Order: sequence, then C-alpha cells, then structure tokens
Amino acid sequence: MLIRRPADIHSSEITPRDVWLRRRELLQAAIAGAGLAALGGLSQAAFAAVSPPGRGEAIPGVRPSALSTDETPTSYEAITSYNNFVELGDGKSAPARNARLLRTRPWTLRVEGECEAPGEIGIEDILSGFAQEERIYRLRCVEAWAMVVPWVGFPLKDLLARFQPTSRAKYVAFETLMDPKRLPGQRVPIYDWPYREGLRIDEAMHPLTILATGLYGELLPGQNGAPLRLVVPWKYGFKSIKSIVAIRLTEQEPATTWNLLQPEEYGFYANVNPAVDHPRWSQKSHRMIGEGWLARKRPTEPFNGYADKVASLYAGMDLRRFY
Ligand code: MTE
Repeated sequence: MLIRRPADIHSSEITPRDVWLRRRELLQAAIAGAGLAALGGLSQAAFAAVSPPGRGEAIPGVRPSALSTDETPTSYEAITSYNNFVELGDGKSAPARNARLLRTRPWTLRVEGECEAPGEIGIEDILSGFAQEERIYRLRCVEAWAMVVPWVGFPLKDLLARFQPTSRAKYVAFETLMDPKRLPGQRVPIYDWPYREGLRIDEAMHPLTILATGLYGELLPGQNGAPLRLVVPWKYGFKSIKSIVAIRLTEQEPATTWNLLQPEEYGFYANVNPAVDHPRWSQKSHRMIGEGWLARKRPTEPFNGYADKVASLYAGMDLRRFY
C-alpha cells in the first residue's frame, strides 16, 4: 500500500472548502436527521441501550496514582459540557446534547499491524483485565483553554504489551468508530473519516500515556470519548482521540486527521509548547475552563508541566520544525 506523508497531501484534496465553511450547518442537519431516525426506529428495549444523560456507572476498584497532579479538578459539569467531538456536533456544547446517539455496548478494540499477537479485546475485558487508576491530568487545547480531569484509565503500554509489538513497530495509529448512525457528524465530509491519531512508539509506551475508561470514578460519558479514549497529558487536546476501535502498530508515521486537514496548523507531535504559536493564536498562556472569560490567564509551561518526565523523548529534535 502506498502511504503518502501528510505533508504531500493538501487539505483541499480531502475537504471541499464550501463543505468546511458550512460545517456547523451541515453537522446540525446530519445530527437532527440521525436523532429523528433513532427515535422513530427504536423499540423500548433498544431505547434502554442508549446512554442516558447524566452521570455514569461507577468503575470498581479504582486506585489513586502517584502520577497525578495535585491541582484541583475542574467540575464534572464543566468537563462533560465543554467538549470537542466533531462526530457529535460542532461547537463545545453540541457533543453533550447528542451523546445519547453513541451506543457503547457491545464495543470491541482491534489491535493489529506490527505485533506478534494481533487480535481483538472487548471493553468488558479491558475494564476487568487492566488495573484501573485515577490519573489527575491537565488537558490543554490549542485554543488556549485547559481543564484538570480526574481520568480513570490504565497505561497504554500495558495493553500494547499483550499484543507483543515487533521491533518494526515505530509508531502507533489510532482510529475512532466509523458509524454515521452513532456518530452522525460522519455524514458530513469535513474530515476524511474516521478520526485518526498517532504517536511515536516511545510516546505510546511512556507511563504517562493512558487509555481512559472513565472520569470522576465513573464510566466515560459519550461526549468525552466513551468507552475508550487516549490521554497524553503533555500534548494538545486533539491528540486525545475518542471512542477508539482500532490501534495499529506501524513502521511509518501514520496520517492523522488534523495533519491531513490543516498540516500547517497542527503538526504530528503537538507537544504543548509556549514558544511555538499556532498560526491564529498565541500558545503562551491559557484559561481554565469553568473559571470564566474574566479569569486571569495562566502562563503555559513547556510540555504542559511534564517536561521533567518527557523532554528527554525529544532530545536533539528541533521542536519548531516538529511542532
Ligand atoms: N476525537 C474524535 N474522535 N473526534 C474529535 O473531534 N476532538 C479532539 C480530541 N479527540 C476529537 C477527538 C480535540 S480537538 C480535543 S481538545 C479533545 O478531544 C477534547 O476532549 P474532551 O472533550 O474530553 O475535553
């Protein structure tokens, strides 16, 4: 298979400009259509399988982690009502409104590519088979906001080890569920769906990198990426791919959604770096979600405050070039 590097692919090859500009309108129409179809076609039993709005089921046996920050977590309400999840709508409040469309049971994760034991694992086995920890991490977005989230999850490296990566596994690619019924934003061709992300293998194997299954001790709500999403606390939010169904170990750097769409704005590495501005805004400071627009902006730290743990991964790299 011919793999094109993201830099070789212009965004206009993927998304017609008028579709991109009208994305809000088109997403609203796609989701309204899906909502009506879902309500029209659902029996009482099927309705019970759609996630109810509000707080989720508690995850048993969650242990605290020494890798948590001691910052005060953002409120549950703010974390679950200010989201980026384009498949569930454009704008920060739309994903929470539309999350009921995302059924998350049954759910299977496929792990394939450069590994000795490719295969599948169900979400119930993920929840019971990997010790679930509370990891309080800061999530930082390129749009200059941040929140502190008490995630529940487990190190990605523990899951990858089960599938036995080979020595040719240099990168890890991730894919979101492709199902326009459950993720109706996928009816609008603003991205080359499904949403895709990637990490270098050493980033994926770092003990700070987790697959999250919950927050505030409970199963993840749909808008936050149920039932399984990536969290890499030293990178910008868009690396945190949601509702993952596939992980592929690869020899080449994988294409990612944002690299394909706007490569000049979002690089593959996406390390939080106050010294490198986004073309349309400064990355030097941020506000905390939940504190309001009048709150004082805080200075952004390199690697989101995790430099002592992760800067060595990038020794010798020009982080202006590999942004
Ligand atoms: N994953 C998918 N599948 N689709 C998306 O639109 N948005 C990303 C990331 N993961 C996104 C996604 C962006 S831009 C951010 S900032 C984080 O999710 C936000 O995560 P949160 O809603 O839990 O705050």
